[in-house]
Amino acid sequence: MSVLVTGVAGFIGSHVARALLARGEAVIGVDNFSDYYDPILKFARLKPLREHKDFAFLEADIADRDAMLALAGRHAELDRIVHLAAQPGIRHSRIDPYIYVQTNVMGHLVMLELARGIKGLKHFVYASSSSVYGGNRKTPFAVADRVDHPVSLYAATKRSDELMSETYVHQYGLKATGLRFFTVYGPWGRPDMSPWIFAKAIHEGRTIELNHLGSIKRDYSYIDDIAAGTLAVLDKPAGEASHRLYNLGAARSEDIVHVLSLFEKALGREAKVELRPGEPGDMQETAADIADTTRDFGWTPKVTVEQGVPLFVDWFKGYNRL
Ligand SMILES: NC(=O)c1ccc[n+]([C@@H]2O[C@H](COP(=O)([O-])OP(=O)(O)OC[C@H]3O[C@@H](n4cnc5c(N)ncnc54)[C@H](O)[C@@H]3O)[C@@H](O)[C@H]2O)c1
Repeated sequence: MSVLVTGVAGFIGSHVARALLARGEAVIGVDNFSDYYDPILKFARLKPLREHKDFAFLEADIADRDAMLALAGRHAELDRIVHLAAQPGIRHSRIDPYIYVQTNVMGHLVMLELARGIKGLKHFVYASSSSVYGGNRKTPFAVADRVDHPVSLYAATKRSDELMSETYVHQYGLKATGLRFFTVYGPWGRPDMSPWIFAKAIHEGRTIELNHLGSIKRDYSYIDDIAAGTLAVLDKPAGEASHRLYNLGAARSEDIVHVLSLFEKALGREAKVELRPGEPGDMQETAADIADTTRDFGWTPKVTVEQGVPLFVDWFKGYNRL
């Protein structure tokens, strides 16, 4: 039996694949090394995975239906899917909207088609995002809340994934679970996200721009907790065909200024900050209500930002030879 992990050269995908291999699973990884950020980081994440005897890799675009559907034919042992490949990033979705629909909507549809074609597929787990909560004012964000106001195209594509999954479960009897991740950070993280941007700017003495005049709150979730949560969910499909959604976040909404101070401490330098107004698409606050996730999977996040930021900074310095 094996698990297909898409976006396996990505931040979360590489950690999930490593955790699966560590517990003795066979993993088939797919990634197209998209150049949204430097693919060198993706090759580096993939390298140790490729050395593992139970890991197989296919370089392919998830929106390429021939390549993806052929993959199922070659791997009859495939019985679970963790679909994490996506075009991420909120700001970039104003620059290149088409790639978001191509990868996140068409690609997701191809993954659903792949899933429905696999006899005896036990579970289809996929990445959604806290961004679907968009303009919601009620915090913390709970899965039961309405999510009709995505404020970025990225969020709209992730919400579309949820809706398409709902339809496929209804029509074809899949067991599918969408995970709304909240700002994930940690070793091997993404260069386009705030932890990397903060660490790099502080190290180089460059100014950090904080939107919403610095009054931003984020639920920063440490990667090990997120990988463990993803596996906990994967291991517990619903008893019958159903589409479920869960929040995966630290459930601590942190003041950005406090997080920045942790970076200053870890790097031993002060940050230069410029306060700016909000940009369209930017959420001012994210906060995860994880009561359902804890109840159904016994999962709770363990790593606080006070612990996680120094761990990330250590890795960041090592990776960038600082
Ligand atoms: N990191 C976060 O804080 C966060 C928050 C919410 C949701 N998510 C979601 O979690 C998932 C993983 O995110 P991540 O942070 O690891 O991002 P990432 O960009 O590091 O990983 C995504 C991977 O998918 C690959 N990919 C992109 N387009 C592809 C395509 N068309 N075909 C095949 N592979 C493709 C990329 O090359 C990359 O390696 C994504 O679906 C993302 O939207 C992440």
